[in-house]
Amino acid sequence: MRILGIETSCDETAVAIYDGSAGLLAHSLYSQIPLHNQYGGVVPELASRDHVRKLIPLLDEVLHQANCKKNAIDAIAYTAGPGLIGALLVGASFAKSLSFALTIPCIPVHHMEAHLLAVMLEAKPPKFPFLALLVSGGHTLLIHAKQVGDYEILGETLDDAVGEAFDKTAKVLGLSYPGGPAIARLAEKGHPHRFSFPRPMTKDSGLNFSFSGLKTSVLNTWQQAAQDEQTRADIAYAFQEAVVETCIIKCRHALAATGLTQLVIAGGVGANQSLRQGLFALTENMGVTIYYPRAEFCTDNAAMVAYTGYQKFTAGCLDASPLTISVRARWPLSELFNG
Ligand code: KG4
Ligand code: ZN
Repeated sequence: MRILGIETSCDETAVAIYDGSAGLLAHSLYSQIPLHNQYGGVVPELASRDHVRKLIPLLDEVLHQANCKKNAIDAIAYTAGPGLIGALLVGASFAKSLSFALTIPCIPVHHMEAHLLAVMLEAKPPKFPFLALLVSGGHTLLIHAKQVGDYEILGETLDDAVGEAFDKTAKVLGLSYPGGPAIARLAEKGHPHRFSFPRPMTKDSGLNFSFSGLKTSVLNTWQQAAQDEQTRADIAYAFQEAVVETCIIKCRHALAATGLTQLVIAGGVGANQSLRQGLFALTENMGVTIYYPRAEFCTDNAAMVAYTGYQKFTAGCLDASPLTISVRARWPLSELFNG
């Protein structure tokens, strides 16, 4: 059983092939970061147009890598949401057209479920049930993952997502897009203890997050400070430290409340080394095992889409209307079974 995965929800065009017995056969990705960098963020129309340009070359590349002919593919999984509507439509139209031509089924995949399951592509994956901290550009979720497709949301952000906070803070500091890696790099040069930012909503054991105030604190501090390179680095350090500590506190509460013994970190911010180290120390203290996808599978990729598609396919979740192209820009994970 071979599944082709297509990812076009935002600014990465990606294609992969997952085989039910042999595992991941091939994956390839084209990042649009240089295209959007000059605008300081993703320009949706440019993203859609670039997905159109890159999908066919990437498909050819993974078929070649996997030494696989198009007619050896059994189904096509594509990201159906959430994401940028135009970008999603490109991937969905591509997947539907190809599935129609090859007379094979299509499988719509929820982008955040794919992030959550990306860790299953690693050599030593966790076993259900586990706690997952899903931190991406658009989402911050604490999830009790009971089975594939059975997820209880324990906490989520009330405003900005963690990645969004990184991106907005980077903009305040005049750093390049995407802000997460830029802040992480700069923070390495920052001095501890010079600045301290709040750890929002950590005074009680609630599991929701709020990051928009943190960004405002950074803005105020930056505006009142001498705006030199060292100050920029010191603020980046303190901001990252505040985010990481907030996530650690939330994970500690969630692990204590659920009694779960495995923690998965997923999503683009999961590539952050400081977050990984902080959560590693927490889990070591609590006797919990930590799992994360390799860094390239934390950020957007099609391997996770192909894998999730395989799981959906074997569970019989195929596209209900093969000739309709429908995607959802907003699609809460909690609605996964309601359309
Ligand atoms: O999962 P992802 O690739 O796309 C979404 O589904 O949103 O996540 C992208 C987010 C961006 O906000 C980016 O700044 C952040 O992940 N990010 C990082 C790092 N790498 C990517 N944030 C902090 N540290 C990083 N190393
Ligand atoms: Zn993503």
